[in-house]
Amino acid sequence: MSNTVLFGSQWGDEGKGKIIDVLTHDADWVVRYQGGNNAGHTVEIGDQKFVLHLTPSGILRESCKCVIGNGLVVDLIGLCEELRELRERHIPLENRLFISDRAHLVLPYHQALDGAKENARGENSKIGTTKRGIGPAYSDKAERTGLRMCDLLEDDFLERAKTIATTKNNQLVALGQDSLDLNNLLTDVKEATEQLKPFITDTIPLLHTAMQNNDKILFEGAQGIMLDIDFGTYPYVTSSNTGAGGVASGAGIPPQSIDRVIGIVKAYTTRVGGGPFPTELTDATGEHIARVGAEFGATTGRPRRCGWFDAVVARYACMIGGISEWALMKLDVLDNLETIRVCTAYEIDGKRIEQMPASLRIFERCTPIYEDIPGWQTPTTHCTTWEELPEKAKEYVAYLERITGTPVSILSVGPKRASTILRSE
Ligand code: GDP
Ligand code: IMO
Ligand code: MG
Repeated sequence: MSNTVLFGSQWGDEGKGKIIDVLTHDADWVVRYQGGNNAGHTVEIGDQKFVLHLTPSGILRESCKCVIGNGLVVDLIGLCEELRELRERHIPLENRLFISDRAHLVLPYHQALDGAKENARGENSKIGTTKRGIGPAYSDKAERTGLRMCDLLEDDFLERAKTIATTKNNQLVALGQDSLDLNNLLTDVKEATEQLKPFITDTIPLLHTAMQNNDKILFEGAQGIMLDIDFGTYPYVTSSNTGAGGVASGAGIPPQSIDRVIGIVKAYTTRVGGGPFPTELTDATGEHIARVGAEFGATTGRPRRCGWFDAVVARYACMIGGISEWALMKLDVLDNLETIRVCTAYEIDGKRIEQMPASLRIFERCTPIYEDIPGWQTPTTHCTTWEELPEKAKEYVAYLERITGTPVSILSVGPKRASTILRSE
């Protein structure tokens, strides 16, 4: 049995797409269990670059089957567009992609409401959402008014969508926005429905049969633990459970069936959107990291905020997620720095704290306590073995292992498959 979860252990964009792709050389299935097309997972293979939003990153390895689990909110029209692009790039989908009949739908009114609600929040309290309709769709799910994939297969689906869209239009108008044209909306939805129908199935028995057959399953997290609706910097979070716990509810997998949990972190930290970020750098070093790391959102193109590695965040992710090993990403981005700082704890009102506070008001006032580590000032992106790394780079990795109490089993020094050091092999 080998069921592995890889989940983001910072604020998202850690490099999940790249590592899922690397791990698919030894996997039969890749399963997304939460989120939606707020995710943007980049995979670079040879000179080709793919950015996947809803489709699991395993779709690029032909031997892999992929599941969009029940825990996702699926933008019907967005997914059709994504599948069209994949087909154009000769990626086969038939009998490889399975969409849970229990997954909830994101429809155009969810996106419109996402934007309208962000506007209504005012400049200082915007969440900075991706405007993909994620919050409004999960709200409908919790409110028990959502439409699901299985509803698409019913004759009265368009009728039901029309009724709901009418009430959503009233909400849009109340928020000072234009209402959506119902005829256009229904035409687009109808077209998308026809395209997606062949992929919809009950993915729960599918995955349980795979487990009985001892297939290897990878669970691909989206976003990161600090954006988790329960554990993140609420309310500056997304609307789902992003960690290993999300697998049970988002894919129908019993918790004891998970054998391996890999946390994924950058060798520094980034965040896109609003909300507190204690180690954020607003100086030339932050700009340097952003430039060298090409830190622009894969979904929205927004610049990502950059800062130092935060061990309080990493240890918190380990505690909640049961992480037994790290995938440590983008070490190469730090290649030119003379000194690298690591936040070991926070200070507030003269007191040292090592645990993540629940209250945003407290978190906002936390200042990092740093340890300074000497940089290696040598290129690393050509390294394919641990031995090839500069001594000081090894020392930095060893320091992160010590301070987080968790070993680094995968080390990444560039966006491509080849720039990966697998220490277990
Ligand atoms: P995800 O959302 O976690 O899949 O991450 P994103 O794809 O949004 O962002 C990660 C970015 O870093 C992508 O552009 C990757 O191609 C790139 N990347 C991944 N690993 C490395 C690495 O080790 N070094 C460098 N320089 N870039 C990397
Ligand atoms: P991947 O899977 C980074 C952020 C948004 C915003 C907050 C809420 O590529 O790591 P939402 O649209 O979900 O309601 O936005 O969450 N966010 C992400 N940040 N990576 C992501 O996904 C993200 N998905 C959402 O910027 O701050
Ligand atoms: Mg991303």
